[in-house]
Amino acid sequence: MAALHTERAVAVIGSGAMGAGIAQVAAVAGYTVHLYDTRPEAVAKAISDIAAALNKLVAKERMSAIDCAAAIARVRAAVTLDAVAGAGLVVEAIVENLDAKRALFAQLEAIVGDDCILATNTSSISVTAIAAGLRLPGRLVGMHFFNPVPLMALCEVVSGLATDAGVAQTVYDTAAAWGKNPVHAKSTPGFIVNRVARPFYAEGWRLLNEQAADAATIDAVLREAGGFRMGPFELMDLIGHDVNFSVTQSVFNAYFGDPRFTPSVLQQEMVNAGFLGRKTGRGFYRYGDDAVAPRA
Ligand code: NAI
Repeated sequence: MAALHTERAVAVIGSGAMGAGIAQVAAVAGYTVHLYDTRPEAVAKAISDIAAALNKLVAKERMSAIDCAAAIARVRAAVTLDAVAGAGLVVEAIVENLDAKRALFAQLEAIVGDDCILATNTSSISVTAIAAGLRLPGRLVGMHFFNPVPLMALCEVVSGLATDAGVAQTVYDTAAAWGKNPVHAKSTPGFIVNRVARPFYAEGWRLLNEQAADAATIDAVLREAGGFRMGPFELMDLIGHDVNFSVTQSVFNAYFGDPRFTPSVLQQEMVNAGFLGRKTGRGFYRYGDDAVAPRA
């Protein structure tokens, strides 16, 4: 098996935090990338964020100006989904919702060729369930990157029950060609990382509910004494509370309501309020022009 040939284009559907990062690493690795989103302004923001990130690497002398310009030029804004027709690999990074993902892949199957691999960046939804109903379910595989994609090395390559072993291997090799450390996993709820991470968040919420300490203190303790890069609350702010809440719900439901994975009512309220974390400027902390200040 081998990585997808760089002559084949990659399409990324969904241009939020993850889609932008995935497009960046694929473009830097030499692939033409078609970036699509139902909100054209998200595509424009993703492309400007990619340009800013790569220009920063040039300023730090970690990338040449020529390579930077070439990588930026390889990222193309797709105005309609039809632009992905010739792609060899489509990576989906839209909202974490089974029905939305199924509907998108059904649409994509009518556009792409039969040899095109369909990958989902889902954090927690069954890859088997996403593939069910496709004409060629064997071509769908999980390609689960971590946030921020350009910095996080791990990529879980997740096989559902119908996933073709050759498809999983091509995606594994492609992730390696993009500079990632891929790992094969089966489609169990939360896969590897999000399964192990649930108790980390859950204990954070329990500590907060019991008023053991405020969020900033808990984060600082985990960072300074626990050896973690980030505490649970700052990590959820980075991930996005909407995404994190959906993942917890999905793992909870997939394990038939196992109380270990019970979602947090407070997090649900934060989602209701639009306090989604960094992407909306406010979560447990404030971002942007306001100084970073703990909320709780
Ligand atoms: P986001 O909210 O930043 O971006 C999602 C984008 O998808 C939005 O721009 C939205 O307009 C677009 N979108 C929604 N429905 C669409 C459709 N039908 N067609 C095209 N575009 C559509 O979300 P984020 O954080 O980038 O997450 C995307 C996916 O990646 C989710 O499945 C999430 O679970 C997964 N993921 C997220 C991680 C994180 O830390 N945020 C980490 C790993 C995976």
